[in-house]
Amino acid sequence: MAKSERKLFTVHGSIQYTADDKFLYAEKDGVELRLDMFDRHYYKLRPYGNGIILEIDGLRMHLVKDFKSPLDYSKQVVRELKIPTTGSFSALDTCMGLGYTAIALAKQQSINLVITAELSEAVVALAKWNPFSDPLFQKESKIMLMPGSIFDLIKNFESETFSFAIHDPPRISHASELYSPEFYSQLYRVCKTGARIFHYVGSVGVSKGRKIEKEVASRLESAGFSNLRYSLRLQGIFGTKP
Ligand SMILES: C[S@@+](CC[C@H](N)C(=O)[O-])C[C@H]1O[C@@H](n2cnc3c(N)ncnc32)[C@H](O)[C@@H]1O
Repeated sequence: MAKSERKLFTVHGSIQYTADDKFLYAEKDGVELRLDMFDRHYYKLRPYGNGIILEIDGLRMHLVKDFKSPLDYSKQVVRELKIPTTGSFSALDTCMGLGYTAIALAKQQSINLVITAELSEAVVALAKWNPFSDPLFQKESKIMLMPGSIFDLIKNFESETFSFAIHDPPRISHASELYSPEFYSQLYRVCKTGARIFHYVGSVGVSKGRKIEKEVASRLESAGFSNLRYSLRLQGIFGTKP
């Protein structure tokens, strides 16, 4: 769409963001970028209401249905993790994406560190252009970004490190290793006793007739997690390390 027909989305510091139906554009110092890229997969930022979402190969990476903004979903997940207001806790956010879940965790006063991993350099590059991901990259951020696959990285974390964990992976058909018994047993190992976790599962079945939430709950239980509760609204499972 011609530049003149685009809508002004927002101005953030020295960057002006404009949007059309499909794309988000950033203009800085007279240079304009369309915020999408190929890197084996197709990554794209796009406006959604007043917020911005990430799509990979045309699939939305955020649950936005029934939520006011893409950030609202993450806030609700964190609210339901019932993080105490006092104390000092570390949290793991396995798959950064635009960092909305990591940012919601870091906003909790009692969280002193959030470790988050991101496999795709393209996602990190796009997140740097996303004004809503800013808290990830601020100097004083409580969030530590680790580039690479959480499947490998998690093996190097000390046992009993995290009091809270959010696991928001791509769907099972795109990242089956992040739904594997091997990964879940590592997740269990790095959680402290009493740690609370949230695992986004979405609504796409494992295969015909097999519900993803049942399959994942059964795998989490086999890894040792208990108190498993499925939230229909958040399309994910809460659990505890007993
Ligand atoms: C559903 S999105 C996460 C959204 C994120 N929670 C947020 O609030 O923006 C999943 C992300 O996981 C990344 N990813 C895929 N496989 C991964 C892996 N093995 N380790 C770490 N990140 C991975 C994808 O590139 C994508 O950015």
